[in-house]
Amino acid sequence: MIYLDHAATSWPKPPEVLRAMADFLERAGGNPGRSGHRLSLAAGRIVYDTRETVAALFNAPDPLRVIFTPNATQAINLALSGLLKPGDHVVATGMEHNAVMRPLRHLEGRGVRLAVVPCARNGTLDPGAVAAEIGPSTRLVVMTHASNVTGTILPVSDVARAVHRAGALLLVDAAQTAGVIPIDMQSAGIDLLAFTGHKGLQGPPGTGGLVLGDRASAAEMTPLVRGGTGSRSEHEVQPEDFPDKFESGTLNGPGIAGLGAGIRWVLDRGIDLLRARELELGRALADGIREIAGATVYGPENPEECTAVVSFTAAGLSPSEIGLRLDDEFGILCRVGLHCAPAAHRTIGTFPEGTVRMSLGAGTDAAEVKTAIAAVRAILRG
Ligand SMILES: Cc1ncc(COP(=O)(O)O)c(C=O)c1O
Repeated sequence: MIYLDHAATSWPKPPEVLRAMADFLERAGGNPGRSGHRLSLAAGRIVYDTRETVAALFNAPDPLRVIFTPNATQAINLALSGLLKPGDHVVATGMEHNAVMRPLRHLEGRGVRLAVVPCARNGTLDPGAVAAEIGPSTRLVVMTHASNVTGTILPVSDVARAVHRAGALLLVDAAQTAGVIPIDMQSAGIDLLAFTGHKGLQGPPGTGGLVLGDRASAAEMTPLVRGGTGSRSEHEVQPEDFPDKFESGTLNGPGIAGLGAGIRWVLDRGIDLLRARELELGRALADGIREIAGATVYGPENPEECTAVVSFTAAGLSPSEIGLRLDDEFGILCRVGLHCAPAAHRTIGTFPEGTVRMSLGAGTDAAEVKTAIAAVRAILRG
């Protein structure tokens, strides 16, 4: 079996992640931040350690500004519905995932004004086009860091400058880039960073978070859910403290322990080194498929401008047919269709059928890439 679906979720997870999850359940199984006995304190320490690890990874100003959520979708929903009020103006791009577009369309129905800045057919974004949409009532600009369809990396820092000139905030969806390319929230000017734990960070499903920079005020953001936090239990109103205000209910302790181990695994190997490897393999895969007669590869030609995600179509064969044959005949697992991102497929001209998407990960090797190219060539030859 060859697993080329790391943009959906990374697999297999490092053994350290599995061990950390089992250890949490065996040795630290109390409720973090609740009971105050040794098992609860041990669990709380592991959760706090992961908070610190996340903050260090993204150069966040404070570990307490790391809010754990079950995935990137919840983190994005928290940021959008927590910040935007009727009458506010929000700007998004033409490459967004439905984790961004669906809550935005919902909020639009409640009086939030939405502008979607078109991207080029290879998914690239002109930061000047975003700047042109920003006005006095713009509260937030939300953008994916890299497309899950084409891998195209969007110009976050350039957009951040325009956003801050207007006094607005920048929310970045880093679902595809956390652990894949270096992210420094402070130097890039990211005010809110939504990440998922189960892709490039090598953590388990059910983990993710929203990290707030200095300019994002907790007081101005409403929580998605309210309830028990283990703190200020004498009050029936939600506490204002960070991160409790946004973390009601028991946290996913084993998942957070696994996430911490996943991030440490990534940092031990070095994001730059992992990225250099994926760049080379991504280039080989994209070039190999581009050379096959009848195949069209989407996204920028320069692999430096994208993550190791290769989306393609073939004349005369549907993406789902290709995906089925890759799995059945060659044991190659990838994802076909719209990848929860219809806006991106409209941008690149592949709506409604979508593409075949092969996405590489930390464990992918050159032999697997060669086999994948040969399999696509064999299928397209008929
Ligand atoms: C660009 C992008 N945003 C958001 C998400 C949602 O992530 P999660 O599954 O953690 O909610 C994904 C996952 O596929 C994604 O690729």
